[in-house]
Amino acid sequence: MSFINWSDIYSVGDPTLDGHHQKLFDIVNQLHDELLGHHREEAVANTIKALLDYSHYHFAEEERVMKAVGFPEYEGHKAVHEMIIRKLQDYEHNKAAGDRESTGELYTFLLSDWLWKHILEMDKKMAPYILGHSHKPGN
Ligand SMILES: [Fe+2]
Ligand SMILES: [Fe+2]
Repeated sequence: MSFINWSDIYSVGDPTLDGHHQKLFDIVNQLHDELLGHHREEAVANTIKALLDYSHYHFAEEERVMKAVGFPEYEGHKAVHEMIIRKLQDYEHNKAAGDRESTGELYTFLLSDWLWKHILEMDKKMAPYILGHSHKPGN
C-alpha cells in the first residue's frame, strides 16, 4: 500500500515540477514498502540515497524556476530546502549507524514537513508566479 498518493491538490502549475514531485512520491512510497517489508539494509540505504539525490536535483531546478519567475520568497524557500536536505542527511547517517528509532521520526518528517507541508504550503505559493510567466522549465 502506498504511503502517500499524488493528486491534483499538489499541483504547483508547472508540469515539470509536478513531475518531480510525483517522482519524489514514488521514491518515498518505495522506501515505505522497503521499511515495512523489512528489506535488506542495503536496499533501504540505496533508496534513501536516491531520495537525497533526487531532492538535491529537484530543489536546484525549483530554485532556478523561482528565480526565473521573480518569486519574492526565494531566500526563505531555499533555506527550507537546505533544512530538508540536512534532515535527510541526518537520517541517512543515523540509519547507517544502526539507529532504529530514527525511522518513526523519518515518517513524521517526510509526511508532515516535506511532502505534505512543504509542497502544499510553500511550493504552491509559486503557482501564480509560474502561471503569470511565459517561462518554460527545462528550456
Ligand atoms: Fe520547494
Ligand atoms: Fe518542490
